[in-house]
Formats: sequence, structure tokens, C-alpha cells
Amino acid sequence: MNQVKRPLIIGHRGAAGEAPENTLASFELALKQGADGIELDVHLTQDGQIVVCHDPTLNRTTNGTGYIVQQSLESIQQLDAGAWFGDAFRGERVPTLREVFEAVPEGKLINVEVKHAYEGRMEHVLLSFLRRSGRMQDVVVSSFDHKCIKRLKVSEPELQVGLLYAANLIDHSAYAELLGVEVYSLHPHYEGIGASDIKLAVEKGLHVYPYTVNREEEYRRLIEAGVSGIITDFPARLADVIGSR
Ligand code: G3P
Ligand code: CA
Repeated sequence: MNQVKRPLIIGHRGAAGEAPENTLASFELALKQGADGIELDVHLTQDGQIVVCHDPTLNRTTNGTGYIVQQSLESIQQLDAGAWFGDAFRGERVPTLREVFEAVPEGKLINVEVKHAYEGRMEHVLLSFLRRSGRMQDVVVSSFDHKCIKRLKVSEPELQVGLLYAANLIDHSAYAELLGVEVYSLHPHYEGIGASDIKLAVEKGLHVYPYTVNREEEYRRLIEAGVSGIITDFPARLADVIGSR
């Protein structure tokens, strides 16, 4: 991915504060607002396709209902994933991971959060997709499921993996070392990590991407502490604080 000296602006579910999360409209808005990358969530459909959606069900963010894993891609893509957020977004669809990759230019960071391992099927399908994409270096795969992250890294040593967590750890860098595989990045909840832990992690070569940060004073605290990037619902707001646009 393209490297810059300042912290990366990573659009959470795109620009989820201003567009329907995890839609192409949201990702395009994030990039237009100056995001260096995007974060998104993935699930598997009944027919083994990777779709981009936060929840395991379609209830909250589409006009459909039920579990994604129990429905075909074709039926899911007939749903509206934008109208719930506002009339201007009516007609947005639940995108596949492939469609997002096609919409995001090379060099932009794509942080894929695995929400569910689906008994190992997600790992298999995701690695197969990423290997064929030729964009492994643009991608960081993160998850709250650290066993899944370890399996992914063991299967594909080229893959950049990140640990996502909400716990207030005693020693963030030491936890990453415990996993026994090379961890690319830490993705802590922003309230659970302080300046000394950020400094130590970065000194040890870890990237630190706290989530989900939307307030200016928190942006400033984390930038001052030396984070590698910030995951935010409002990329334009963060860009204004960083002074990158
Ligand atoms: O990846 C950071 C953040 O997205 C994790 O929480 O619930 O927004 O997926 P959530
Ligand atoms: Ca997420």
C-alpha cells in the first residue's frame, strides 16, 4: 500500500457517519474525502461468496431479513442496502468483496475484518480470493477471532494480519508476540490504549490502528502518541485535523 509519514486515514465501513456503511457509496465517499484506506466487514453467503456487511443478518442495514449464510448471493444482491440511511442512497446494494476491490484503487489500504470463520470456510475462500487478486500488499485482515487470524497467517505467510480487540491489555505488544506468528498490526479500541503502549508497539515494528475514533480531541491524542493510522466514521473530519486536504 502507499506509505505516508502521517497516520493513515482509514474509513470505517467506508464513511459510515455520512453514508450507508459497507456500501460502494460509502467506500467511494471515504476515498473522495481523503481516506488512505477503508475498513470493511465480511460474511459468507450460502453459496460460498464473500459479501461486505457488518451484521450476520440482513435485518439492520437492508430491506431483507435473515442470516446471510442462509441466503444466496443472487437473492442478497436484490436487496436495498442504502434506503435505511436516507433516500439519497436508495438502490445501494450489499457488495461482494470483489466489487469493493474493483472500486478501490491499487495502493489504498483495504482492511478486511473477518466477522465469522464459518468453520474455516471463510479462511479458505478469502485466501483463495486474495491470492488471485494480486493485491496482497494492500490488504490487512483483522478479526476479534485471534485463532482465525493465526490460522490465516500460518496458511499464507505473505498475508498481513491484525489483532482486533476491545480489552484493556496490560502489554499490547507482548500479547501480539504470544500468538506465535508475525502480526502486522494492532487494532485496539481507542479507549483501551495509551501513549506508552502505542510508542512501544510502534518501536517493535507493529502498526497501531485504533478504532472507531470520531472526536477531534481523540484524533489529536492518538496522533500525538504516534499511531500508524486511525479508523474513523468521518474521514473528512480526520483529514481536516491532520491537515492532509
Ligand atoms: O475494525 C474496527 C471495528 O470495525 C471493529 O468493530 O463492530 O465496528 O466491526 P465493529
Ligand atoms: Ca468492522
